[in-house]
Amino acid sequence: ADPLEDYDLSRPLNTKVGLRQGLTSYGDAHFSLFLRKAFIKAAGYGEDALTRPVIGIINTHSGFNPCHANVPQLIEAVKRGVQLSGGLPIEFPTISLHESFASPTSMYLRNLMSMDTEEMIKAQPLDACIMIGGCDKTVPAQLMGGISANKPVLPLVTGPMMPGSHRGTRIGACTDCRNNWAAYRAGLMDIEDIAAINDELAPTVGTCGVMGTASTMACVTAALGLMPLRGASAPAVSATRLRVAEETGKNAVSAVSDKHRPQQILTKESFLNAITVLQAIGGSTNAVVHLLAIINRHPTVAGTITLDTFDEIGRKTPLLVDLKPSGESYMTDFHNAGGMTALLQTLRPLLYLSAQTITGQTLGEIIDSSGTHDFPYSREIIRPLSNPLYPCSSIVVLRGNLAPGGAVIKASASKDRRLLNHAGPAVVFSDTSDLALRIDDPDLPVTAESVLVLKGIGPIGHPGMPEAGLIPIPRKLGALGVEDMLRVSDGRMSGTAGGTIVLHISPESVVADSVFGIVQDGDIIRCDVEGRIIQLDLPDEEIARRIAERASEKEKSTEGHTRKKRGYRGLYERSVNQAEYGVDFDFLTAAGPS
Ligand code: FES
Ligand code: MG
Repeated sequence: ADPLEDYDLSRPLNTKVGLRQGLTSYGDAHFSLFLRKAFIKAAGYGEDALTRPVIGIINTHSGFNPCHANVPQLIEAVKRGVQLSGGLPIEFPTISLHESFASPTSMYLRNLMSMDTEEMIKAQPLDACIMIGGCDKTVPAQLMGGISANKPVLPLVTGPMMPGSHRGTRIGACTDCRNNWAAYRAGLMDIEDIAAINDELAPTVGTCGVMGTASTMACVTAALGLMPLRGASAPAVSATRLRVAEETGKNAVSAVSDKHRPQQILTKESFLNAITVLQAIGGSTNAVVHLLAIINRHPTVAGTITLDTFDEIGRKTPLLVDLKPSGESYMTDFHNAGGMTALLQTLRPLLYLSAQTITGQTLGEIIDSSGTHDFPYSREIIRPLSNPLYPCSSIVVLRGNLAPGGAVIKASASKDRRLLNHAGPAVVFSDTSDLALRIDDPDLPVTAESVLVLKGIGPIGHPGMPEAGLIPIPRKLGALGVEDMLRVSDGRMSGTAGGTIVLHISPESVVADSVFGIVQDGDIIRCDVEGRIIQLDLPDEEIARRIAERASEKEKSTEGHTRKKRGYRGLYERSVNQAEYGVDFDFLTAAGPS
């Protein structure tokens, strides 16, 4: 019931929308509104402003987040759009996360940011909310929080950075960060060159300029119908980016209604469209984890889409977008080739066109009204269905005794396709410090046929499931020209990275009955991408024996000191779920704690 139902709207303290919502509890609703209005007037608002729909704007600007350095300009443009449509824009801060400035990992803090986002959207009197994000974990955190809060939410991303240049070659964060660093490690590049490259990898503000996680999540968010299509790719420093911000402000005012709540707009079909786009763009493997977390926040879609759905959609979806790391180009090229509009027009036969969007139009109506012939198509960058970059299954889901909960590989980013069907002896590293200590040891017993195994980097093992899955090629093999090896871990990999790399092994190594946890040096691991298999060639009895042995060792070593950890770390370790559920906290999912 509305505590202000009997309120006389003709009197001076009235307010029809916005500020009436979710009053602070003083036990007297009229007094609560009276106080709220008294305080907001301290900011100089007039009576007219306070009767308008309130559009919240989440400000994730931070000196530690260069990917969001253009947020102040975006906010200015958003406010213009809101005001032109008769709304009252009010900005507020939440946590901001950058990939390189969050220890131990940004992923460790993604769920915290989602909680901040959800609770502040719920707590404050806003009728719709524009969520400005961009860097990898921010957009997933905002979508998770926004769906849970279930007020109309409109994501706006900061947009990709421009590419840089070194000795006449275009370079950009962060595929070229990794390639060039690997070349330097292998002794193929000197210190002056690698230092010069460091100056050019991120030459403007904005998010990484390849099809990494930030670009992937931007494309996925547009496919979900929550953002203007060109909003996925317009460069951070472009005028188009500002116009998208202005348009988002306008859209927010018209989205002020119950039917534009995310749990209403987003259906199973919306998410199937998003997964189709993920496969067609050769998107980041991280997006699989993020999408599962987002989906599992949605009360009616949760559980209807699983890891296997990603594989099923992959089988019928070709990789069409020629961007690094699967291809050669940068986000600015994708934008100039027509971006998401051109891509969705190309993917039309594979999409659910009746999916709703935040504007009230269906996705099909948006695609159709965008004008097929207006774009200077570059069919090199966004390929037609008849001439894909990779026929299907860019991202593949593997299962087997090594990963009963599933594992993921970005097959399209493999550098040595021979390895997509390979069996070899494991060279096991127990965690990232063990890896750092021994990977370049000249005496490490490793050949190009070995399978590099890194344990201890799962959601709990190394909190936040670090992007350490791109295990470096041992220096002695790199020097011989080995560029790719089969690598297996329970962690993640940057969306900007490439190689034959099996990720997200579930259950992760630190879980008591994890088969991955008992792999030893010399065990044969078999990966068959075509057959969707990741297998440890050991008899079941031996696996069971090792698991039991490990459990009794652990019991001995922890006897008498099993104190629970404090703070966010403790909350994280007690509540985080495995990769196939999205690495969310169990108590945040739509289903709630188990
Ligand atoms: Fe922010 Fe890559 S570091 S998007
Ligand atoms: Mg990244």
